[in-house]
Amino acid sequence: MSDRVIRVGVIGAGFVGSALVELLTDTSRHVALVDAATAPIEVVAIAVRDTLKRRDGINSALITDDAAALAARPDLDILVELAGGVEPARSYIETALGNGVSVVTANKALMAQCGTALAQLAHEHGVDLFYEAAVGGGIPILRALRTSLAGERIERVLGIVNGTTNFILSKMTSEGSDYHEVLAEAQALGYAEADPSADVKAFDAAAKVLILSSLAFGTELTGDEIFREGITGIRAVDVEFARRAGYVIKLLGVAERVGEHGLSRRVHPAMIPVDHPLASVHGAMNAVFVEGTKSGPLMWLGQGAGGQPTATAVLGDVLDAARNRVSGRHDVPFSVDGTLDMVEAGELASAFYISIDVLDEPGVLASVASVFGAHRVSIQSMEQSGVGDEARLSFLTHSALAKDVRATIDELSALDAVDLIGACIRVLDRGAS
Ligand SMILES: NC(=O)c1ccc[n+]([C@@H]2O[C@H](COP(=O)([O-])OP(=O)(O)OC[C@H]3O[C@@H](n4cnc5c(N)ncnc54)[C@H](OP(=O)(O)O)[C@@H]3O)[C@@H](O)[C@H]2O)c1
Repeated sequence: MSDRVIRVGVIGAGFVGSALVELLTDTSRHVALVDAATAPIEVVAIAVRDTLKRRDGINSALITDDAAALAARPDLDILVELAGGVEPARSYIETALGNGVSVVTANKALMAQCGTALAQLAHEHGVDLFYEAAVGGGIPILRALRTSLAGERIERVLGIVNGTTNFILSKMTSEGSDYHEVLAEAQALGYAEADPSADVKAFDAAAKVLILSSLAFGTELTGDEIFREGITGIRAVDVEFARRAGYVIKLLGVAERVGEHGLSRRVHPAMIPVDHPLASVHGAMNAVFVEGTKSGPLMWLGQGAGGQPTATAVLGDVLDAARNRVSGRHDVPFSVDGTLDMVEAGELASAFYISIDVLDEPGVLASVASVFGAHRVSIQSMEQSGVGDEARLSFLTHSALAKDVRATIDELSALDAVDLIGACIRVLDRGAS
């Protein structure tokens, strides 16, 4: 054990920051923490916006409202950034790294936008940049990809990485309720923000897919836009159709090889066979399913959010960074694989579920079917149910290119007999289980 003390500054004492400070200052865990860090850890200051806010369990003498000054302190060993958002978090992290201070963050938005540049800066200054909690909250998936699976050729990563949308879809499945009803309930329970866009429009999940992809496939973190579809268009009837057909609907983040040199990164709702391990991930839980060439399928399941679970992942990073400070080393960033070509989502084939409300008149079904045929989208099964003067047609297609399905839907929506194009959801290949 080293004589030196590892000095930690924390920016942010919200859900995660306050839980982290509690863990770091828990006297009953002192020996375990010193063993893991190979040195005692001292929290020297905690920066927040509002110094007057009551913060139970936090020594008020440590609180400051000057985060910029804390980030610039040269006597820190580790800066923990738990404020969130891109700026000023990015500037604080750059300052600390530039001063030779290791950084731990849980900031997925920031890492997805400029993670490669920050990792490079850390490397240039011989320090660590760790961000385990940025994906899957308390699930230690990034470390698993970075270390345990470092030598494995990963074929595919599938993730349920947004707890809010999984909570909503799980409730819709178990109670048959509609999207808007469950969203309101999620907001009342604090599972969804007043403005839920980041979750329900899948921005949050997309950032996590980019981070997973960087570690699984060596792609850069430079703020790429990836194909993104949220869950706002999913109705109770879609969930019910999926159930009868032996599927559940989940918002799925995907990073997978396509052929020898292609990679697809995307997030969209998917119908998952009920016997796939991801189908049983309920409520606000997260899970990441990884297929390696030699390892076969692997899955991690756990609390994707919440102050305490997330803080345990942050603490693991702090202890790792502390050990490295004591031994005078740092982790080298993952290397970039420049040989992979990004494959557009439209070029990928899968079966689709498509729901259409049409006028209940003779000849309508034939004209709808002919549009499918004209775009080479072959129908595997069709269900028709009456809805007032209208009929709802629910199709399952055979495997078809997504761009052909898109063209089918565009043409269908222009037909007079078509009142509404409902959901259009990819069906996960049963071979993925
Ligand atoms: N919550 C989760 O379950 C979860 C899960 C995974 C990852 N994360 C990530 O963890 C980070 C923190 O999340 P959180 O839920 O703990 O957020 P939060 O509850 O909103 O807390 C944010 C904290 O940062 C402080 N803060 C914000 N901007 C600041 C600034 N410019 N200078 C100084 N302090 C500032 C706030 O101060 P005041 O208290 O004075 O307002 C607050 O203490 C985010 O990057 C988030 O994406 C969170």
